[in-house]
Amino acid sequence: MYEMRRSYQHNLLLGLSDMPGGVSIATDVTCQKIVHNPVAAQFFRIKDCENFPYTSLCSMSVKIFQKGKLLSPQEIPIQRSARCGDRITGAELEFVWPDGISKTAIWSTSPLRDETGVIVGAVATFEEVTGLITKTQELDAQQSQLQEMVDERTKKLRQEFEKRQSIEREIAKLERLNVIGQLAAGLGHEVRNPMTTVRGFLQLLQNKNELHSYKNQFTLMIEELDRANSIIREFLSLSKNKPAVFKRKNLNQLITNLFPLIQADAYSQGKKLVFEPGDIADLEIDANEVIQLVLNLARNGLEAMPQEGCLTIKTFMDEEYIVVCVKDEGTGIKPEHVLKLGTPFFTTKENGTGLGIPICYDIAEKHRALIDIETGVDGTTFFVRFPKPKVG
Ligand SMILES: Nc1ncnc2c1ncn2[C@@H]1O[C@H](COP(=O)(O)OP(=O)(O)O)[C@@H](O)[C@H]1O
Ligand SMILES: [Mg+2]
Repeated sequence: MYEMRRSYQHNLLLGLSDMPGGVSIATDVTCQKIVHNPVAAQFFRIKDCENFPYTSLCSMSVKIFQKGKLLSPQEIPIQRSARCGDRITGAELEFVWPDGISKTAIWSTSPLRDETGVIVGAVATFEEVTGLITKTQELDAQQSQLQEMVDERTKKLRQEFEKRQSIEREIAKLERLNVIGQLAAGLGHEVRNPMTTVRGFLQLLQNKNELHSYKNQFTLMIEELDRANSIIREFLSLSKNKPAVFKRKNLNQLITNLFPLIQADAYSQGKKLVFEPGDIADLEIDANEVIQLVLNLARNGLEAMPQEGCLTIKTFMDEEYIVVCVKDEGTGIKPEHVLKLGTPFFTTKENGTGLGIPICYDIAEKHRALIDIETGVDGTTFFVRFPKPKVG
């Protein structure tokens, strides 16, 4: 019986040896014995199919995966056909050997039955697609690499385009502001003269006895004119562009001189003022301009605080900078407003001019100083950092 089987399998193999695809035949339902034609033998890395006519898949310590899942012996298609009579077509199986070699093939299996219809084994045919799969994977990898490069380039181009657009918008805005600024500066000058005349006459009329009942109205008119005048004055100082006069000076001295002026402001508003001078080196500055800068920051700080609030002006020095900081106990600046700081005429105050901070930036720029802002619910600190003069 055994001999007979063997020669039957032998004959089968001889018949299948010319098949271009792989063929494996299980001659018992438990798939203990599987014979392979030369293509299958080569696929399974068996030297010569004649020497291994009864090789079982399980004894080859090869792992079989389908869609990434490791198959148990019972799940291998040839076993399913031999055991349960399943017909399987087009199953893509990956075989992985202990030495790392991996091969992929498309399998079809069906049961083998004797003349009475009883299953006696199974036949499996397959086409190896290892090269194809690797090629496809390589192509996929190349494609996704290309896609990544295209995406990256597109992103960069878009960023550059957006940056360019925003620069162009800024330039257009600056050009508009410049033209408007020049016009307004001229206009400001022209308006101030008639205003001075009007103010003079209002003062004259205010003191007339017969107009005494209008005294309050006159006071209001004069105050309003003064406010308009101060807006124009601040605006002109922004657009004046007069050359700065740099002299060696110590910021502590400058702030000490300025202190009574700010203190008077603070006092009239019921607020406190503290000056903490640090040990700092002299600087080359335009004193009038820096006075204006500190004054603007101090006034904003005072205006931002409720009564009893304390404004602290401090000076100190670090590795790179000589710093003046103006710290208030106000309620801070909203993030959306921080972005607008420095934009001429941006103000949140009913009577504000929105020119104080732009003037500060202008003066800081002339001194190559930087302005940093720290703001939160406990208050705001403006840091003006003047680059330390080089020694020697
Ligand atoms: N220390 C501060 N605390 C809170 N808000 C401030 C402070 N400094 C400036 N700001 C905000 O910046 C705006 C612009 O200030 P500024 O240019 O000095 O103009 P103005 O004081 O006339 O409004 C102010 O209206 C205010 O909203
Ligand atoms: Mg101000």
